[in-house]
Amino acid sequence: RPGHPARACESQDHLGQNPDTASRIGMVPTMGALHEGHLSLLQRARAENDLVILSIFVNPTQFSEASDLDAYPRQEAQDAALAESAGVDVIFAPSAAEMYPAGFATTVSVSGAITETLEGAGRGSSHFDGVATVVAKLLLAALPHRAYFGQKDAQQLRVVQRMVADLGIPTEIVSCATSRDADGLARSSRNVRLSETDRQRALVIPRALAAVSAAAASGETEVVALRTLAEGILAEGSVDPEYLAFVNPESFAPATTVSGTVLCAIAARVGEVRLIDNELLNPP
Ligand code: PAJ
Repeated sequence: RPGHPARACESQDHLGQNPDTASRIGMVPTMGALHEGHLSLLQRARAENDLVILSIFVNPTQFSEASDLDAYPRQEAQDAALAESAGVDVIFAPSAAEMYPAGFATTVSVSGAITETLEGAGRGSSHFDGVATVVAKLLLAALPHRAYFGQKDAQQLRVVQRMVADLGIPTEIVSCATSRDADGLARSSRNVRLSETDRQRALVIPRALAAVSAAAASGETEVVALRTLAEGILAEGSVDPEYLAFVNPESFAPATTVSGTVLCAIAARVGEVRLIDNELLNPP
């Protein structure tokens, strides 16, 4: 299409013929161990594109602990079966040597509050350098028209949006709603590591987020009051948050009032498992 680099797969005959929709390529970058949250991104990509590419790469450069990288679940055969049932056309699963050959020396680094606060503070800013670099490489390898990211990882989504805009990568970044279990817990590959008791305790996180969202929607504009509300609910599950933050969703600068949209983000360790979740708050 005009303005988009030519692609080898545009000539494949299984792609649609309508010039408005033909040859639309959607990509869903993941680290595998697919769950319903990933599948919701794949479903959206499937509905909006002619060709769906799933990437699976457990990216070593975004892990700060070698033990965390080693412990990351790997289930290639199950992922391939799930991908097929979700209508994925291509799985791109490069090796680490393919992504980072000997002599690799380039890092894509997004600076400022977007990468330095919250997850950037907790996990070290090199985490987002790893994410920005690998996502840039994945997008350049596939040159999709659209790439799908979960609002669950709101800060990562913002880092990717910033990076794509700044580097002029011709891919539309699509933000997808957080997929939740019936009890409200945001889906994550880490949830299986929660004991039954801890899983019940963890439910105060989505409850706190839902409560501040409802309070903001009915006119509470003071972040101080919203924070107290959330802290009270978290305490009911004896969950002591690593952070409970109210920030501008674009700049990640701290917010004091809900005049426009504010991102409320929580990270907390429940038992052995570190969970993150967030909600966008809007005034009435
Ligand atoms: P991963 O944790 O496998 O997540 C892949 C994508 O699925 C991300 O965009 C994430 O936000 C989304 N996702 C995870 N749980 C979700 C949920 N409950 N609802 C909606 N979306 C959800 O995030 C990564 O991999 C990596 O950092 C990656 C972007 C692939 C770069 O290595």
